[in-house]
Amino acid sequence: MIELFKDLKTTSDQGITSWEAPSNIALVKYWGKFKDQIPANPSLSFTLSNCHSKTTLNYRLRSEVSDDYSIDFYLDDEPKEDFIPKIKTFFDRIEAYLPFLKSYDFEIRSTNSFPHSSGIASSASGMAALALCLLEMTVKSIEETNSEDFYQKASFLARLGSGSGCRSIEGPLVQWGSTPSISNSSDLFGIPYPTDIHPVFENYQDCILIVHKGSKAVSSTVGHQLMENHPFAKQRFAQAHQHIEKLIAILQSGDLNAFVELVELEALTLHAMMLTSNPNFILMKPNTLAIIEKVREFRAHTGIPICFTLDAGANVHLLYPHKDAIASFDFILKDLVAYCENQQYICDQLGMGAKRLS
Ligand code: PMV
Repeated sequence: MIELFKDLKTTSDQGITSWEAPSNIALVKYWGKFKDQIPANPSLSFTLSNCHSKTTLNYRLRSEVSDDYSIDFYLDDEPKEDFIPKIKTFFDRIEAYLPFLKSYDFEIRSTNSFPHSSGIASSASGMAALALCLLEMTVKSIEETNSEDFYQKASFLARLGSGSGCRSIEGPLVQWGSTPSISNSSDLFGIPYPTDIHPVFENYQDCILIVHKGSKAVSSTVGHQLMENHPFAKQRFAQAHQHIEKLIAILQSGDLNAFVELVELEALTLHAMMLTSNPNFILMKPNTLAIIEKVREFRAHTGIPICFTLDAGANVHLLYPHKDAIASFDFILKDLVAYCENQQYICDQLGMGAKRLS
């Protein structure tokens, strides 16, 4: 892969780059990793549209050479010193590919479209946006930022900041992690999902119910580590490959009953891994379970194929086809919003990936 980055140089002594990168929600979950953010199993995600990070990078060649990075970071125009160690770790991991990082002063300004303390992780979208901004420093013409090669490199770099961040470059579906059923799949970067998708998945909806706004009881770094000696790890990793294969057929046929079954099983398996690790973690809250029960009742009663998925926290993502958006949203307002912290929810849908901001 280092070949892909061969001879990358900056094209200007100073400048500004600015990108918007989306959040994503995994249908088949990545949980467990090896060195250098290599995933232990393949994953597949929906790229979101409304939940995104916008990052602007101001760079200027330094007058003196130094062996540390020079980074100022602002979130919503407020200086945030505590984000800098994470960015430095990211820079350490990508310096082999972008060897100019210590030669510049960087000012990074970031905002998220979703509330900061909503419990929605901003690291995937934030790292993806930053990777795009840094990579743009190396292009000779803006057209290059529109190429598959550029996106692939950006995804490769984003992976080194936040694993799932490599799925936050393109859309509407992204697959990451080498797996036999997708021939050009890679552990090194996410790829736009390469196979046919049934029209029922166009504009698929994701309503995120904010059950708990606080930070998670277990960081994803610790969570991935828990898979290292997990008694069920081997079976889980094998299952993820099988689920990708099944999902390919489901996405092609539009079999929504099979979709619901697989997506919910993936979400519960992710939590089952945490429930059975040592130490173990219960990341769902009573209201998470209350919502899950209501969703299953509503589905049984109406036949509307709404289903839930979860990330490593208490919030619930509700997925449903665009044609069922009105009935599903009615149900959410009437029966589910009461279980959300401060009645908070975010309506989103499939998105097309990152955008360069002028
Ligand atoms: O990218 P990380 O290290 O924050 O891990 C994300 C893991 C899950 O969100 C739980 C699953 C996934 O595939 O996004």
